[in-house]
Amino acid sequence: MDLSIIIPSFNERENIEPIVERIHSALRDQGIAYEIWFVDDSTDETVSVLTRVESIDEQVHVHHRTGARGLASAVVEGFERATGEHFIVMDADLQHPPELLPDIYRKLAAGIDVVIPSRFVSGGSDGGLGPLRKLVSWTARVIGQVALRRLRKISDCTSGFFGVHRNVVVGAPLDPIGWKILIEVLVKGRYRTVHELPYEFLARDAGESKMSLQEQWNYFRHLFRLVSQSPSDRRFFLFCIIGASGVVVNLVVLTILKYAFGISDISASITASLVAMLSNYIWNDQITWRASGKRKWNVKLPLFVGISLIGIIVTTLVMNGLKHLDVPVPVGQAIGILVSTVWSYAMNNRLTWRD
Ligand code: GDD
Ligand code: MN
Repeated sequence: MDLSIIIPSFNERENIEPIVERIHSALRDQGIAYEIWFVDDSTDETVSVLTRVESIDEQVHVHHRTGARGLASAVVEGFERATGEHFIVMDADLQHPPELLPDIYRKLAAGIDVVIPSRFVSGGSDGGLGPLRKLVSWTARVIGQVALRRLRKISDCTSGFFGVHRNVVVGAPLDPIGWKILIEVLVKGRYRTVHELPYEFLARDAGESKMSLQEQWNYFRHLFRLVSQSPSDRRFFLFCIIGASGVVVNLVVLTILKYAFGISDISASITASLVAMLSNYIWNDQITWRASGKRKWNVKLPLFVGISLIGIIVTTLVMNGLKHLDVPVPVGQAIGILVSTVWSYAMNNRLTWRD
């Protein structure tokens, strides 16, 4: 078997027959041996539609689940059952055009490990979503990409449409929460090459989206779990938390020096910053990079302080640059802090706590 198409389905009765028909039209003359696997959690007549289609079409297989629920776990069960050399996952509702299947397959057959049709590369579009959903989706993607390094270069990392060689996922410790199976595959899968090709995400004709607030919450739980399971992503996260804790230390020390000891404002401010920097150094040394870095403190501490001071300059340069583009100073400063945090994390990782 060359290709298994895996389709999670939940109450999609009007869409089952059309999607099977369109998959056949797209693949029939391509000389590809393929099968279609529905992993179904439906609670309506979709179940009987699928049973009928399965009985008359030998390329269609259905796994009905009872009890278990959820899009991503359905796809994992599809991976376990599918027999193809390559897998393509797509939604049942025709928002993912089956006409793209031959192109995706050809890329996989040419040796690319992960192929992602993307709404966000040139030629693609996410026209099938309303404005609010677009904003939610954008925010979710950005948060995911900040949290997890392996998502950063992928423009459509939250898609439900993608292809993989079976070795990317079979045997990988997949254990997703909620909907976003692709982030689980990108973080835990075994792959070297990823390719994105443009497609147009269309509006639904029949039925309605099952996206919910619950699923958006599950997405954060899922991200949190992936970050805590991955040492390098966890480190950046810890670095940010410790950086934020430094602000609190800074303000507390300033307040004590000024009001309890009557020290002058300038001296109090400088001392508070130095104490905060030292506190950040100690926490990062003991927690963030606990297991790494063989250098002594008298090398690490000056490096850390030097990088932090340059970070302050970077923040100011960014703020000032953006000010000339009419960005308000607090917003520019916030962006500057973000840039200098990423920069100083990378420098500390590479220099201060180098293995
Ligand atoms: N088995 C199973 N179990 N399938 C489910 C479940 C479930 O609990 N919930 C939803 N599905 C199926 C739907 O039947 C459909 O085939 C697919 O998962 C996607 O559900 P939709 O309700 O159509 O989601 P959407 O269109 O709002 O969002 C989809 O497209 C986005 C863009 O690619 C999802 O795939 C998103 O993850 C994706 O970002
Ligand atoms: Mn949909």
